[in-house]
Amino acid sequence: MTAGRLVIASDHAGFPLKEVLRGELEAMGLEVDDLGTHTEDSVDYPDFAEALATAIKNGKADRGVLVCGTGIGIGMAANRYPWIRAAVCHDVTSTRLARAHNDANVVVMGARLIGTETAKDCLRVFLETNFDGDRHVRRVDKLAKLPA
Ligand code: RB5
Repeated sequence: MTAGRLVIASDHAGFPLKEVLRGELEAMGLEVDDLGTHTEDSVDYPDFAEALATAIKNGKADRGVLVCGTGIGIGMAANRYPWIRAAVCHDVTSTRLARAHNDANVVVMGARLIGTETAKDCLRVFLETNFDGDRHVRRVDKLAKLPA
């Protein structure tokens, strides 16, 4: 396991799956900081993407997990931060390639779309897959230079 410290966050729609995924991480013995939300009361997903992006920028975590209803909104928000490479993943193949080719540092899931077992599999693959480097380094470097 090469994931380092982890941070997890969700909005209200993602809360139930976030709880499951945090439990998985803890069961693996990994250090995970849960930034909320902590109930199913309605909240705004950009606030939780911002909290996670800030934690990664400040070195409190190396990688993150985000969940909202579809994964779309919270993923869009996270990718506004230039140091975040957030990938919305709903299957193990896209999760594996998001790590291997895109060096994704945040995996995003949609709690209303993905099954719990598939979500757990995606989480494990996100943690276990290394960046392939090589030609992908050049492309990821170009991502960082795109206008904000
Ligand atoms: C909340 O109802 C929902 O819109 C949000 O979780 C997410 O799916 C947005 O992209």
